[in-house]
Amino acid sequence: MDSKELRVNGERLKITLEKMAEIGTTPAGGVHRLALSDEDKQARDLFVKWLREIDLRVTVDEMGNIFGWRPGKDNDLPPVMSGSHIDSQPKGGRFDGILGVMGALEAFRTIRENQVETQRPLVIVDWTNEEGSRFPPAMVGSGVWAGKMDKDFAYSRTDFHGKKFGEELERIGYKGTQPAKKWPLHAYWELHIEQGPILEKMGKKIGVPEGIVGIGWYDVQVDGKANQVGPTPMKGRNDALCAAAEMILKVEEMPGKMGGNMVATVGEIHNFPNSRNIIPGQVKFTVDVRSWDDQMVAMAREELRNDFERVAEKRGCSMRFQEIWKVEHAPFDQSLMKKILEIAGQMGYASHSLVSGAGHDASYMSKVAPTAMIFVPSIGGRSHVEVENTGWEDCEAGANVLLHCILQSAL
Ligand code: GLV
Ligand code: MN
Ligand code: MN
Repeated sequence: MDSKELRVNGERLKITLEKMAEIGTTPAGGVHRLALSDEDKQARDLFVKWLREIDLRVTVDEMGNIFGWRPGKDNDLPPVMSGSHIDSQPKGGRFDGILGVMGALEAFRTIRENQVETQRPLVIVDWTNEEGSRFPPAMVGSGVWAGKMDKDFAYSRTDFHGKKFGEELERIGYKGTQPAKKWPLHAYWELHIEQGPILEKMGKKIGVPEGIVGIGWYDVQVDGKANQVGPTPMKGRNDALCAAAEMILKVEEMPGKMGGNMVATVGEIHNFPNSRNIIPGQVKFTVDVRSWDDQMVAMAREELRNDFERVAEKRGCSMRFQEIWKVEHAPFDQSLMKKILEIAGQMGYASHSLVSGAGHDASYMSKVAPTAMIFVPSIGGRSHVEVENTGWEDCEAGANVLLHCILQSAL
């Protein structure tokens, strides 16, 4: 068969995704598969088994990134790589990340069963801890591999229960020996759900992001004075939670002040000691700021820090503001984006260009190799939640486009 006619097996992709969704499954139909948890290990083991079944050579690097290698006719040529992440958000969805890994697996299965030989070697990848929910920041596996993050910094990251990234990586048996260090790549392709409402609203099957927004992550700690709620008068209190509440509203107001397409969110908050009859003495919360304009992210950070200081002072509290992660906006490779549009057109899939507001490993990969992403619609624009959903036909369409992107850059 002419390799142009090749199509993935949509039913097999569906079954594969359903099998993965059984690992860490939640009652409301999502998955809870936090980075380096037992569920992550179980999913990795299954992934490695599937890689070996199609004769891929499996390597694991010191960050726990898993690679499956398929030789080409000329193995001195830089390979073509595709993949995403297996970890999920707490009570997250069944498609975020895993579609990009299983979509690439389906493409590799299709290539193998049709005995297609490529000029370049092919590599499939699962990047460790893309979500950064358990071990902030995000995109840690690809970040270290790309030389944009320090390995010891990654190992030292600690979860809410005091468990260290490096120790958990070892515990689940995925601290490999290969250096987590970039090597020359010809192209990197990542299939992903859109995670927003645009494609569905426009009735398009394939999204072609022009790139990924810049992101800033900040940890904030507010210290006040804990006390008995009853006998302590309202006047003169140093309530850390009330101070935090005022700060959080400043975060919500910031995109309106800055303009552009900025978004800003407080998603995680810890109140201490968290008792209904104790005035809160300490609050820790996170801030996430995103914009295509890196300058705007930096300006928002400074304004927020100043706003928070003013609020803390007014309320007799102290405040600590720490930038824990910054990633610049990442424009994708124009010729790879054009290829996606062409291939989608040839297959009869309506496509649309957009910007990714979500972070992806492709962000760091774009600093190493020509990179592009293929998006498929998210039903109701919902993601990072249990009801996250994408039609099976759309998953299949995305995997078909991915298959031909991989083939055209590797043949
Ligand atoms: C990753 O999923 C992010 O956009 O935060
Ligand atoms: Mn993702
Ligand atoms: Mn995600």
